Amino acid sequence: MGKLIIMDHPLIAHKISLIRNKKTGTRDFRTIVSEIAMLECYESTRDLELEDVEIETPICKTTGKKLAGKKLAIIPILRAGLGMVDGMEKLIPSAKVGHIGMYRDPKTLNPIEYYCKLPDDIDKRDVFVVDPMCATGGSACDAIDALKAKGCKNIRFLCIIAAPEGLKKLQETHPDVDVIVGALDDHLNDHGYIVPGLGDAGDRIFGTK
Ligand code: PRP
Ligand code: URA
Repeated sequence: MGKLIIMDHPLIAHKISLIRNKKTGTRDFRTIVSEIAMLECYESTRDLELEDVEIETPICKTTGKKLAGKKLAIIPILRAGLGMVDGMEKLIPSAKVGHIGMYRDPKTLNPIEYYCKLPDDIDKRDVFVVDPMCATGGSACDAIDALKAKGCKNIRFLCIIAAPEGLKKLQETHPDVDVIVGALDDHLNDHGYIVPGLGDAGDRIFGTK
């Protein structure tokens, strides 16, 4: 069973309140989403393998640790997932970035894939799928399906806000995937928006409404 981590940290709680506020403008929204992504990245990489490395400090020789050279990939679900890439890249700069484009049909709420471009060796990489919102869970599940179809085995999903409905679907559909959530909200409204949520993450990141 994959791990479920609901971030329990004062900085994340504070920053999520800032982006929930409808008065927060695009510039601040984008900056804070990136900061939250960085904090979630820190937590989601806790189990990366290490190996010994011999180093010489100005004082003496010693044995330190370095990442065991596993290949990583960050996969944002477009559009809103793009807002989390910068924060992730700051901590894992050698990761390759692939893109999966999806939008929700406003009537059925089913995700529709319109773009997919992944690193050639994606099946050999540990994958971090990022999207600020997990509402019905449809977009996350379909993106992970697409990655598994390409042979990916080690997948983590990072979101900032999840609805209980989406989290349940994700865990039932992909029980092997580690899930890292900034805040678990109350429910979905009749239009499939997370309550209390933060509105439409894509529109708020890109200023399109
Ligand atoms: C949003 C969000 C997720 C999806 C979550 O994207 O960024 O991808 O909805 O909803 P779900 O869990 O019910 O699938 P949206 O479809 O609004 O597209 P956008 O990012 O291009 O605005
Ligand atoms: N997508 C969003 O951007 N916000 C929601 O509340 C639900 C889906």
